[in-house]
Amino acid sequence: MNYAIILAAGYGKRMKVEAPKASLPLLSKPMISYLVDNISKTSIEKIITVVGYKKEIIEDILKDKSLYAFQENLNGTAGALQVCEDLIKDLNGFSLILNGDCPLIDDEIINDMIETYIDNKSDLTLATFKTKNPFGYGRIKRDEKGNVLSIIEEKDATSEEKKIEECNAGLYIISNKYLFKYLKEIKNNNAKGEYYLTDIVSIFNKNKKKISSYTPQDQYKLTGVNTLLELSNLEKELKLKINESLLLKGIYIENPDTVIISPDVKIESGVKIYQNTKIIGSSIISKNSIIGPNSIITNSKIGQDTKVESSTIEDSIIGKNNNIGPYSHIRMNSNLKDNIRCGNYVEIKNSEINNDTKIAHLTYIGDSKVGKNVNFGCGTVTVNFDGKEKNKTIIGNNCFIGCNTNLIAPVKVGDNVFIAAGSTITDNLDDNDFVVARSKMVVKKNYAKKYIKKKD
Ligand code: UD1
Ligand code: MG
Repeated sequence: MNYAIILAAGYGKRMKVEAPKASLPLLSKPMISYLVDNISKTSIEKIITVVGYKKEIIEDILKDKSLYAFQENLNGTAGALQVCEDLIKDLNGFSLILNGDCPLIDDEIINDMIETYIDNKSDLTLATFKTKNPFGYGRIKRDEKGNVLSIIEEKDATSEEKKIEECNAGLYIISNKYLFKYLKEIKNNNAKGEYYLTDIVSIFNKNKKKISSYTPQDQYKLTGVNTLLELSNLEKELKLKINESLLLKGIYIENPDTVIISPDVKIESGVKIYQNTKIIGSSIISKNSIIGPNSIITNSKIGQDTKVESSTIEDSIIGKNNNIGPYSHIRMNSNLKDNIRCGNYVEIKNSEINNDTKIAHLTYIGDSKVGKNVNFGCGTVTVNFDGKEKNKTIIGNNCFIGCNTNLIAPVKVGDNVFIAAGSTITDNLDDNDFVVARSKMVVKKNYAKKYIKKKD
């Protein structure tokens, strides 16, 4: 069996952030999720993630997409691999080893690595890349015939070795038969006092094991991220690549520097995206919709011909031909069907809204089911929380809900109901009811002077 082992236990000290480095987001997706998603597209059968520092954060992201090995003593990349020994049960295959901080390693790179490993009948294959700025990376030492001899880490390199431009990507395939046998020979007599996985290369050479190397064309995919600045630079590059490829597919993006689109987002033809907009998670934007400016769409589906302006939509489904915003907030499993108007300062939470309904201004709808063709006046509130529990409001079709209505949940309103403005609805209403639930107006002629002081 073949395994993938992702090393993600380290502190990530250089990040200066209190979270495991691999959990940090790149365009709103955790770095480690890129790796797991891409490995899952290959023939590798089992993924093992080495966790240590704040392990629950990584486990919460990946859940059952990975097995976990726990590295208690964070003593280096070889130490991280060592804790996987019990999980590598089949010694016939190989293990693909990846650093959790190289998020752009994709299935193409992994498949090429596997091909190199197999074609060369290797015991170990490592990925390398060249850069004019190799600072921080392990350098690849080769003999005059070009065979890889060893990897020298930055802190242990002489000034001559530091000039080597070929670097270790931290991506290896190693035969399971030899991996743990030789891992045990690694010592920590180096500048950091750590057990470096990179030392396995010279140990394989010493034992006459076959080593091959692979350098991809698109070397930027091997970039490692050790500081927030490096993360931000990679984010800029990736953002531009995603936006450029959408523009080339005919998706209009205004001012692309200000638009963030995560890699898993799907955008259909004819969509226009205006500036300062963020579309993340597993969102889908259907044909001819217009998103932005100033909108955030997270894990939501937007139906075709829908407009979303200056609004936030989270974990929700929006149908066709809706007109959302400016300044709407739709969240938590809301489901808006077709031809819906949802306007200024409207919040919709965990609610279903059916076709042709209009909620144009200053309204809160929570834990509700609203029928077709309902008109909400300005300032309607479904009063869903009684201090202890959340309760449901159900409204039928063709209702008119007057301005400033409070619907005290749990409450049920039938079809064709007319609620006068300013009403507080505490009881269920039947079909065709007309209701005024407000105190009667009292007028006292010329009485105002008692309260209003005139200016002299
Ligand atoms: C490592 C390589 C270096 C390579 C670079 C590529 C070593 C010794 N050096 O350096 O040759 O050029 O990656 O990006 O391997 N980790 C653990 N447990 C530990 C220490 C680290 O799981 O005890 C994990 C980290 O969480 C991280 C990965 O291993 O995801 C790599 O560690 P990092 O400290 O980033 O290594 P680099 O200095 O980048
Ligand atoms: Mg690193």
